[in-house]
Amino acid sequence: MDKFVIQGGKKLSGTVTASGSKNASLPLMAASLLARGTFTIHHTPDLQDVHTLANLLRIIGCRVQYDPAGKDILINTENVHHFEAPYELVKKMRASIYVLGPLLARYGYAKVSLPGGCAWGPRPVDLHIEGMKQLGAEIDLDGGYIIAKKDRLIGNRIKFPISSVGATGNVLMAAVLAKGETVLENSAIEPEIIALEYFLQAMGAKIDGIGTRKLTIQGVDQLYPTHFNNIPDRIEIGTFMIAAAMTHGDVTINNVINDHIDSVSEHLSRTGCTIEKGSNSVRVIGGEKLLPVNVITDVFPGFPTDMQAQWIACMTQATGPSSIVDQIYFDRWKHVPELERLNAKLRTDGNMCKIDAPVTLKGAQVMSTDLRASASLILAGLAAKGTTEVLRVYHLDRGYEKLEEKLAGLGADIVREKYEEFVKMDTEEN
Ligand code: UD1
Repeated sequence: MDKFVIQGGKKLSGTVTASGSKNASLPLMAASLLARGTFTIHHTPDLQDVHTLANLLRIIGCRVQYDPAGKDILINTENVHHFEAPYELVKKMRASIYVLGPLLARYGYAKVSLPGGCAWGPRPVDLHIEGMKQLGAEIDLDGGYIIAKKDRLIGNRIKFPISSVGATGNVLMAAVLAKGETVLENSAIEPEIIALEYFLQAMGAKIDGIGTRKLTIQGVDQLYPTHFNNIPDRIEIGTFMIAAAMTHGDVTINNVINDHIDSVSEHLSRTGCTIEKGSNSVRVIGGEKLLPVNVITDVFPGFPTDMQAQWIACMTQATGPSSIVDQIYFDRWKHVPELERLNAKLRTDGNMCKIDAPVTLKGAQVMSTDLRASASLILAGLAAKGTTEVLRVYHLDRGYEKLEEKLAGLGADIVREKYEEFVKMDTEEN
């Protein structure tokens, strides 16, 4: 297994380029199942989650080629014949459920494993299932699988009771081939979903209201393959921004859509950082002091829950106490006890975490438990005195492309090393 060994205390400076978005790549790849032919998605990051979905598409019958140098993924869907997503893959990566809508819409049948639990508590998929039902699908839950059938889905008016990224993406992918009109109300407007909307439009889908909470879709009989440029990874960008702030550094990040990171930029500027927005970049100049700023996570354009763990790490270095409330997930605190091993003073109460600051973080061995938790431990390690070892970085490799190399390029003292672990624990999330 791999671990990161970090000698803290270095100011980060320089320029780094953000990778393509993980959370956009996954629905885009799944959407290729909606048409016959070869798709190319540019700026697809070389990440474990992308490879997991590529493997799932191969099981389904696609030919998938990935070029790690050019970051292009080619998906050929001419031989799709197996309409099933097995438990072994779905339990590794919940986003595998994105194949449900496309398979059902195009082939009239899909058998997709229920994802089961997640590292930070229950994460239901009821809205995905209910959406398919409302498009006329017959759904059986049997043997841990969702079995969905319908020769041709039928358009409907669907109002999501809460804004869900995954359910919006899945139901949208089903609706584009349904007969007649579908209206999706309270749709998610996260940039990854808007990217999917444009991707589907490029395939020939008829969608009105792109980028808004109300999507009106006129189902078509056929869609066509396309080439598409993936968007930058706003969570990776936010993580670098916090790294700059926490180390009082000066970092420019290229390949940035500033509209996607407004909330993080705004909160960071309140900490005393200077944020300079370029047309395709952002520069973060850390202030002398880091002021405490409270955060409440929310759906886009609010502060992302996927930045919550990193923000806690950051706020341990503030000049006073602060708090963060996670409105999206109520128990996403796996990183808290690990951060405490680094001397963070944290207290959780329901979906709130109070951060006592300032504290001097002290290097220690800590364990990654999920993707964003790993990022927060690395950030804390960068600011800590002494040596921090972050174990089980396979969680991080699911969603950050060569993070240690990018941080080292900015002056961080961080290396990847192999180690042996005698007891293997299996916690997965996305
Ligand atoms: C996506 C992201 C994840 C991010 C999350 C919220 C991907 C691959 N993952 O996850 O990194 O943390 O958005 O921004 O893009 N819910 C239900 N029933 C459902 C679906 C969701 O109750 O059927 C709830 C969830 O438990 C959660 C909320 O809705 O409380 C939002 O979840 P959702 O937006 O669906 O997250 P994901 O798409 O799973």
